[in-house]
Amino acid sequence: MAEDIAALTAQAQQELDNIADERALEAWRVAYLGRSGRLTQVLRSIGTLPAEERRTAGAAANQAKGALEAALAGKEEALRARALAREAAGGALDVTLPGRPVALGRLHPISQVLREILGAFASMGFAVVEGPEVEWDYYNFEALNIPRDHPARDMWDTLWISPEGPRAERPMLLRTLTSPMQVRVMEKTRPPVRIVTAGKCYRYEATDATHESMFYQVEGLAVDRGISMADLKGTLYEFARRLFGEERRVRFRCDYFPFVEPGAEMAIDCFNCAGAGCRTCGNSGWIEILGAGMVHPNVLRGVGYDPEVYTGFAFGMGPERVAMLRHGIDDIRLFYGNDLRFLRQF
Ligand code: PHE
Repeated sequence: MAEDIAALTAQAQQELDNIADERALEAWRVAYLGRSGRLTQVLRSIGTLPAEERRTAGAAANQAKGALEAALAGKEEALRARALAREAAGGALDVTLPGRPVALGRLHPISQVLREILGAFASMGFAVVEGPEVEWDYYNFEALNIPRDHPARDMWDTLWISPEGPRAERPMLLRTLTSPMQVRVMEKTRPPVRIVTAGKCYRYEATDATHESMFYQVEGLAVDRGISMADLKGTLYEFARRLFGEERRVRFRCDYFPFVEPGAEMAIDCFNCAGAGCRTCGNSGWIEILGAGMVHPNVLRGVGYDPEVYTGFAFGMGPERVAMLRHGIDDIRLFYGNDLRFLRQF
């Protein structure tokens, strides 16, 4: 057997030496190393040998395979080099031509804003986490204090995944907000919790200049003993100054979200006109940038946190809106239109 292999290798080696073009090389490869090539067949037959011969024959065959593969690679390289030299000599390849510039990519404007927002919170001690876009009704609604058939569900036009829609036994949907991550994180950890998360959300919505059916949200959550509304305000004020300028002022007003109590909306004074009134702020001097509030006791209870011991705040915002304000973009659909003329500006 070992002699057979040696003879086969020698023959293959000799044939290879005489090969001068790629087509012949491919034929050679198929003949020896292909699926029903000669060496492949030898390797296959080794299993049928008596046990005492099998080891030496196997080793020899494997060694031969390695040698032939290396020889093949060498030959390929040599043929390629020769073809290149021939082209250069024939003038088909002008090696003095300047190279083609490699186009430099860049980050999508939303990615840029996301990095800034997450970076601001990361530097205040928030960990960055990610979660699923396809979500259970339980996390998107139920665990967020929005029971089945509750009218608050109308705040979020939902794209259902389960064929029976919301009437399925365990309804599945495309998340309409990133708040389900509050629940997912709390289920897995004990306080103190301090996280931010960013990701795509979906709504069943007719698109216009300020509405997309797919958009991003950034969500934050902090839960511990003794966290108060003052912590919420301090954290978000610091965030507003980092993103929109040291001199920013913030305004909190009451707002309703089922998973917080009390709920608030935060606005910043307009960075474009410093509050005097302009197009950016719709002449009001204020720009609403996020929703927030103290985590609702029902949400805490749902994940097994005692609301008498632990309290927390949560917030959510739309990075598209932040980018639009920043750059004076008047149509949200531009972000996802795949138009390089738009994207190259950032
Ligand atoms: N998720 C809310 C929205 O989609 C924003 C929010 C997040 C509000 C967290 C309060 C707390 O509008």
